[in-house]
Amino acid sequence: MGKKIAFALDVQDLNTAYAILEEIKGLDIIIKIGYVLFIQGGEKLIKDIKNSGFEIFLDLKLHDIPNTVFNGVYAAGKLGVDYLTIHTLGGVDMIKKAVEAKKESNIKLLGVTILTSHGKEYEEYIGTRYSLKELAIKLAQTGIEAGLDGIVCSAEEVKDIKNKIKKDFLAVVPGIRLAGGESDDQTRISTPQKAIQSGADILVIGRPILNSKNKKETILQILSEI
Ligand code: C5P
Repeated sequence: MGKKIAFALDVQDLNTAYAILEEIKGLDIIIKIGYVLFIQGGEKLIKDIKNSGFEIFLDLKLHDIPNTVFNGVYAAGKLGVDYLTIHTLGGVDMIKKAVEAKKESNIKLLGVTILTSHGKEYEEYIGTRYSLKELAIKLAQTGIEAGLDGIVCSAEEVKDIKNKIKKDFLAVVPGIRLAGGESDDQTRISTPQKAIQSGADILVIGRPILNSKNKKETILQILSEI
C-alpha cells in the first residue's frame, strides 16, 4: 500500500467541516472524523464525505464490553466506514469480538494502545509492572495477533513495534509536524518524511493543515514529500 494522509478534521461544527471538505475536494486522502463531529453529523456526514470521494476514518476509540463493541463495529461497517479505532486496553476478548464484527465489511480496524497524553504516573495508576513503552508494544502485539489491521502509535514507537511484530499491519502515526512549524500540545512529534522512514503507513495530521493559509496546498505539499 502507498503511504497515505489521514486529515484529522478536528473542527467544532458541521458548517466549518463542510466548508473545508469543499475546499479540499478531489484530493486522494482519508478524512478522520472524531466523536465531536460524529455526534452532530451522524450518518449523513459520513455518507456526504464518502460521496465526495474520500475514504473515511471514524475515530471513536471504542472501549466497552465485548458485545457492545461488536455491535458498534458492525454498525460502522454498515455505514461504509473505511477505518475505525478501538482501545486495545479493552482486552483480548473485546478485540476478538470487534474483529468478528467487521468480517462482512471493508473496515480496517485500528487499535489504540496507550494515549500519548499519559505520562509515567499512568503506570502507577493502572498498576502495571511494565513501562508505558513496553505496555504499548505488548498491547500492539496482542491486538495484531487477535486480528486487528493496524495500530495507532507515535513516530517514536513505530520502529520498535514494526520490528517486534512479524505480521503485516498498518502503522498509523499522529503527532506529525511540518519542519519549522508549531508543535501545539503534541510532544512526541515527527516530520512526515521521518515518520515514513521509521515505518509509518498512514500519517494523521490535523492542525498543521487546519491552521495553514491554504489547506489544499499544504496537503499537496505533504503528499509530494512522502
Ligand atoms: O492536530 P494534530 O495533528 O495534533 O492532530 C492529531 C490527531 O490525532 C488528533 O485528532 C488526535 O485526537 C489524534 N491522536 C493523537 N494522539 C494519539 C491518538 C490520536 O494525537 N495517540
